[in-house]
Amino acid sequence: MNSPFRFTTCRAGSEAALKRDIASHFAGELVPAFMKPQFITWKVRRSDFVPPRTLSHFARVSGISLGLCKTIAELTDHARKLPSGPVRLHVFPRDTPEDGVHADTWQRIDPLETEITRELQQAGVQLETRLPYAHGDWILDVIVGETDGEPLFLGCHEHHAGMHTHPGGLPRITLPEDVPSRAWLKLEQALAWRGWDQMDLRGQTALDLGCAPGGATYALLQRGMNVLGVDTGDMDPRILELAKSKAVRFEHWRTAAGRLNLTALPRDIDLLLCDINLAPPEVLPQVRRIQDAVQARRLILTVKLNTPALEDRAHEFIEAIREWAPAPVFATQLAANRREICVCAG
Ligand SMILES: C[S@@+](CC[C@H](N)C(=O)[O-])C[C@H]1O[C@@H](n2cnc3c(N)ncnc32)[C@H](O)[C@@H]1O
Repeated sequence: MNSPFRFTTCRAGSEAALKRDIASHFAGELVPAFMKPQFITWKVRRSDFVPPRTLSHFARVSGISLGLCKTIAELTDHARKLPSGPVRLHVFPRDTPEDGVHADTWQRIDPLETEITRELQQAGVQLETRLPYAHGDWILDVIVGETDGEPLFLGCHEHHAGMHTHPGGLPRITLPEDVPSRAWLKLEQALAWRGWDQMDLRGQTALDLGCAPGGATYALLQRGMNVLGVDTGDMDPRILELAKSKAVRFEHWRTAAGRLNLTALPRDIDLLLCDINLAPPEVLPQVRRIQDAVQARRLILTVKLNTPALEDRAHEFIEAIREWAPAPVFATQLAANRREICVCAG
């Protein structure tokens, strides 16, 4: 597919970090063209530009821009020009609240998706819906604005390992009112991103560094995992109640991660989590030391990037994690992340 434009979607507030990241990696090759909240298109300056699979960790979805469409007929005309063969249709909102896309937004988008599906099929576009996603599957991205009057934005991208399979990187999960913290949603979105939400985690053990007040631990206990949590802070009382009702184990070690006695740690850790609110240069060596001792099969790390200077070092931190974490290592900024990115390994 040849187009002189690319598109990216991101979380609200990450537009500046995304722009700086792309400017520093593709200076002279990509320049911002059009911008709306959580959405930026880029003009490709050089005809020989070969984009990497993912333009930036701050872009949840990126791909080839096919332009704005005022009608579904216009969208169908564009879609006819796609490479022959089946495509997957992703219709999703541009504006995404950090606590998850609400049901009423999907209620607005789902009938539109049905209509687009019908029109595309009538136009002879083959739509793929079978699972699982395969390397190289083409995805047609339809990004829907806040109001019905806003034109639809059309793009496409090729699917590869580590990319989101939920349209827009937006699994249909919202933050429940009765969980201890927002980390519940970050954890559930991380599992959905990697497809780990489909695994049976019952009876497995997680080591949760920076576990208080307990949103992520709560999600893991709900999934039947046993959890060893490490934090100097207090846990929400609902954690012990849930562990009891689910007949799973929860243990709280009230200490700093850097002071953990490694020899006392269990050796059967399936999942290592870290959500400690310290800058990566401080916390990553601690996580490495713990991972070297426990050799967890999978990792979910929330890497805090609370300043522009830390945001600009995201690649460096991810590369550092690759040196000691189980492969493959992928990074993305989840819809529920704030000034942080999620790195999953294993
Ligand atoms: C963003 S909160 C974690 C939220 C938690 N994951 C949840 O699910 O609710 C960050 C936590 O890191 C903890 N923390 C800060 N420094 C730490 C350290 N050196 N070792 C362990 N925990 C630490 C804080 O006490 C705080 O509870």
